[in-house]
Amino acid sequence: MAEADKSSPGAADAAAALTLSEYLVAFVLEIVRSPVNIGLVAVIVLLVYKIFFSSHKNQEAAAPIKQLPKLRRDFTVEELRPYNGTGPDGRILVAVNGNVYDVTKGARFYGPGGPYGAFGGRDASRGLATFSVVPGKDEYDDLSDLQTEEMNSVKEWEEQFKERYDLVGKLLKPGEPHTNYSDEEEEEGSQQDNEPKSKTE
Ligand code: HEM
Repeated sequence: MAEADKSSPGAADAAAALTLSEYLVAFVLEIVRSPVNIGLVAVIVLLVYKIFFSSHKNQEAAAPIKQLPKLRRDFTVEELRPYNGTGPDGRILVAVNGNVYDVTKGARFYGPGGPYGAFGGRDASRGLATFSVVPGKDEYDDLSDLQTEEMNSVKEWEEQFKERYDLVGKLLKPGEPHTNYSDEEEEEGSQQDNEPKSKTE
């Protein structure tokens, strides 16, 4: 009878369940013992809450995303600042790796109260590089102190922005002139390549 128990699938399941519950207890204890881990868990819970809460709020409002006219121009850091979703048209622009993207359709992420609202109207490069959701510097940030790994991370993020959002123009360095994009306006619906430097250099 005892032998039959050992080899029965029920006994094997019970043993597996015990191991799993032991593992879970050890996992929870491991987290609870370290203040750093508790902090990380709190950050994760907060971000998950903000992501889901803001998406529910948007669904309740059910307002269709406004189709704003396509923007094509360069921005200084100061010019970019008002485009954080609080303006009359709600447009949101975010700079990544020297380029400005129109992320208005991602308002639930980058709009006021969104989990990445700190990036709205700002250069998000440093935050993305260092995995921190805080507003970037107030002045132009040349990112020159970032490690290679961090810059690679910024470039990977930029690939995602390129795929999802429209490129608007360049984030200008201090003193750098605005590019004149008026010639491009004729080419309706054409996809711009990410070569914003061609006309000014
Ligand atoms: C550890 C906590 C985090 C969690 C649980 C989390 C979760 C998520 C989730 C679920 C999405 C996808 C949402 C969707 O497509 O519906 C997302 C997107 C994103 N996350 Fe996070 N995230 C965390 C931390 C961060 C941090 C620290 C940053 C910034 C450095 C960041 C930047 C982004 C960006 C830029 C997007 C893309 C939003 C878009 O589609 O434009 N996340 N995150």
